[in-house]
Amino acid sequence: MAKPDLMERVVNLCKRRGFVFPSSEIYGGFRSTWDYGPLGVLLKRNVKDAWWRSMVQLRDDIVGLDAAILMAPRVWEASGHVATFADPLVDCRHCHQRFRLDHLPASGACPHCGAKDGFTEARDFNLMFKTHVGPVEEEGALAYLRPETAQGIFVNFANVQTTTRKKPPFGIAQMGKSFRNEITPGNFVYRTREFEQMEMEYFVAPEDAERWFEYWCDQRLHWYVEYGIAEAQLRLRPHDPEELSHYSSATADVEFDFPWGWGELEGVANRGDYDLRAHMQHAGQDLSFFDQEHDRRYVPHIVEPAAGADRATLAFLLAAYAEEEVQGEKRTVLHLDPRLAPVTVGVLPLSRHERLVPVAEDLAAMLRPHLMVDVDSAGSIGRRYRRQDEVGTPWCVTVDFETLDDKAVTVRDRDTMHQDRVPTDGLLAYLRARLP
Ligand code: GAP
Repeated sequence: MAKPDLMERVVNLCKRRGFVFPSSEIYGGFRSTWDYGPLGVLLKRNVKDAWWRSMVQLRDDIVGLDAAILMAPRVWEASGHVATFADPLVDCRHCHQRFRLDHLPASGACPHCGAKDGFTEARDFNLMFKTHVGPVEEEGALAYLRPETAQGIFVNFANVQTTTRKKPPFGIAQMGKSFRNEITPGNFVYRTREFEQMEMEYFVAPEDAERWFEYWCDQRLHWYVEYGIAEAQLRLRPHDPEELSHYSSATADVEFDFPWGWGELEGVANRGDYDLRAHMQHAGQDLSFFDQEHDRRYVPHIVEPAAGADRATLAFLLAAYAEEEVQGEKRTVLHLDPRLAPVTVGVLPLSRHERLVPVAEDLAAMLRPHLMVDVDSAGSIGRRYRRQDEVGTPWCVTVDFETLDDKAVTVRDRDTMHQDRVPTDGLLAYLRARLP
C-alpha cells in the first residue's frame, strides 16, 4: 500500500472505530489535540503495561515512580530547560505564518504561501507551558507543566536510593503526561503538545556508562520487535555530535519507518553526571553515592531510554494494519500482538436466538476477569468477524446451536482464520496457551 494511503487509512480507522477522536470535536477541534476513545485507551494502556512489564516487573534492578507534574520552578532552572529548551522560530513576511527554522524546506520557500526568502530573523521560543499556582497570577506563583518526566526521577534519586537500598547499576522508571508548546505539532498523535512519556533513568558507575548505553540501545530496539514491529521497519540512528543535547555525550534514536519517513520513537542517551550534579549545585544537596565495596564516593552517571507512549501506539497501529483478500473479499485487519490488542476475545452468538445469547453472555462473564472481552451479536457472523479483525481482536469465539448439546464453541484465529472446536470448560486454558 502506498505510504500516504496507509496513514490516511489508519487515521480513518481510528476515528471510525473509536481509537482516537479529534479533541473538542463538537467545537471544531483544538489545535492538534486528540482524545483516545474506548478502543484507543485499551491499546495505549496495553502499550504502557508492556513497557512497565519489561522495565519494572521482569527486572530486579529497576523500580517505579509517579512524580508530580507540577514541580518547583527551580527544577527547570537547574535542568537547563528555562535557559535552553527553545526552538528557533521565523515568521513569513508575506503570509505571517510561523515556522521552526529547522523545519523549513531547503528551497527557502514558505511552506504555506510559497514566497521565497521572506522570513524574519530567527527568535528563540521556549517550549515550556507556564501556569500560576494559587489565586494570584504573579511572577512568584509561576510554575511550569513538566516538559519531560525525567526530572521527577532525578530529584527523587536520593529518596528512592535510600528507601530501596538499591546500588548502581539500578534504574527508576516512570510513565506520565508531559507538555511542550510545540510550534508545529502534526502527523496525528506523533507530535502533540500534551503527550505521554515512558522514561527510565539508569544510574551507573562512571566507568560503566558506555557499556550500559550499548545495552539499553539494544534492549529498547528489540522491545518493539518483541511486540510485533518487523526489524526492517526499525533502525537505531546515532546522533551526530552537533545534534547532541547539552547534557549528552552519546545519544541514539530508535526510529520507525513512518509513512512520511524515519521518525523517532525513543531516544537513548548517555547523560553522564550532568543531571545529578546540576541538582546538587542548585538544591545544595548531596546526591553522590558511597560505594562501600570499593570504598569510594561518586556521582552516578545516567543512561536514559526515553520513549513516547503515543508514538509507540501509532507505530504499532501502522505496523499492524493490512488489507487482505479472503475468498474474493477484502478484509481490513490489525495484526496486533495479542498482548497489545484492545480486545482479546470477541464472543459471538451465531444469531440473536433466545437460547444462544445467554450462553454467550455466561461465557463472556467467565472470561472477563482474565481477558478483555467484547460480546457482539449484531449482523451476520461474517460481518462480525470482519469487524473484530479490523480492530485487531486475536480470537473470536462463536456460540452455535451445537454448543447447546456438545458444550463446545468454535474459536477462530484472526491471522490464520483457522477454526478449532474447543470445550467451553477448557476455553480459558486454550486462549491462555496462545497468548505470547
Ligand atoms: N528526558 C529526555 C526526553 O524527554 P525527548 O527525546 O525529548 O527526550 C522522549 O523525548 C520521547 O518522548 C520521544 O522519543 C518521543 O517518543 C516522545 N515525545 C517527545 N516530544 C513529543 C511530542 N511533542 N509529541 C509526542 N511525543 C513526544
